[in-house]
Amino acid sequence: MITARNGHTKVAICAVVALLMVSMTATSLSMAEPAGKPESFTLFAVGDIGLDQLPRKNTNRYQYDKVAQLISENDPDAFLVLGDAQHNDGEIEDYLAYYDTYFNPLKDITYPVTGNHDYYVSDSADGYFEYFGTLENCAVPDMVLEETLEGVNLGYYSFDVGSWHIVALNSYLPHQCNMTDDLMPEEGSAALAQYNWLEKDLAEHSGEEYVGTIALMHHPLYDWELYYRCEWISWFDLSTQVHMWELFHEYEIDMVLSGHNHNYQRWAPQDPYGNYDPDGVRQFVVGTGGAYLWQFPPETPLDCAGEYPHGIPVDTLNNLEHVEEDYFGALELTLSEEGYEYAFVTVDGDILDKGAVICD
Ligand SMILES: [Fe+2]
Repeated sequence: MITARNGHTKVAICAVVALLMVSMTATSLSMAEPAGKPESFTLFAVGDIGLDQLPRKNTNRYQYDKVAQLISENDPDAFLVLGDAQHNDGEIEDYLAYYDTYFNPLKDITYPVTGNHDYYVSDSADGYFEYFGTLENCAVPDMVLEETLEGVNLGYYSFDVGSWHIVALNSYLPHQCNMTDDLMPEEGSAALAQYNWLEKDLAEHSGEEYVGTIALMHHPLYDWELYYRCEWISWFDLSTQVHMWELFHEYEIDMVLSGHNHNYQRWAPQDPYGNYDPDGVRQFVVGTGGAYLWQFPPETPLDCAGEYPHGIPVDTLNNLEHVEEDYFGALELTLSEEGYEYAFVTVDGDILDKGAVICD
């Protein structure tokens, strides 16, 4: 047992035991377990999925049918939707006409979070909550609809997978409120309600019975593009999520799974301010769900990165360990009592990034 900062106690500290940044072809994702090995769970996670046109043979767009097929064929225990399940935008009619056509067979294992395209429909993301708020389309409609403020759905909830705890967050709520000078949400806001809920939830799920914790939220705090295009700093407005990352770090959660940028990024463990920290939080960006891909721009970083509101150092970019910009696919996670394994798997079955992390 390790005593963490601020007196919080957490049972497990995870460390990388192997990081294999390789390109290789996988014919099967099945992981044979030797006799006596504790039970493990397989999860697939991806965001930025459906478009308002049916799939077609375009190498850079409309491949969400193949992503659905990849996940279905691997028969995981859970499918984590990392936001923006339906573009442009998340009207209920488009959810039913496009996303649902290919992803409804996964409904019994689907755990979603909201994305910004859900809120482009309305300030209360009506299409998202109408779709995922029913058992016809989601494993946990009651949890999706559980948290409300003045009659408006907020969309955050948590659940367990084996000995792992998962918090599903609404990263759009901070965008809807004013922030204090220290980047806390204003009093009475939905974002502050989420912050208070998150702190309580993490405190209640950090005991010895848990191996690790995962957070799901559509907007990544760290994004490769952020450091290359000054205008993205204000457009993404990612600084509004620092307060949640401070809780992640305080309670020593293991990883954050995000989307939003339509590519794959694996970051080294960091503290909330972009400093490398071997005991920090690892972030994955998996926005490769089939809508369209965004390639990384070729230009060098711009000076404005150093002016980011909460002072993320420019050399934070050094913490970006692996990127893929040309492939649709999903992140496969295998959670066990010992730690976790991860792999970025393309729709063609190629594994472009993989590794294993053990938790003491
Ligand atoms: Fe997004």
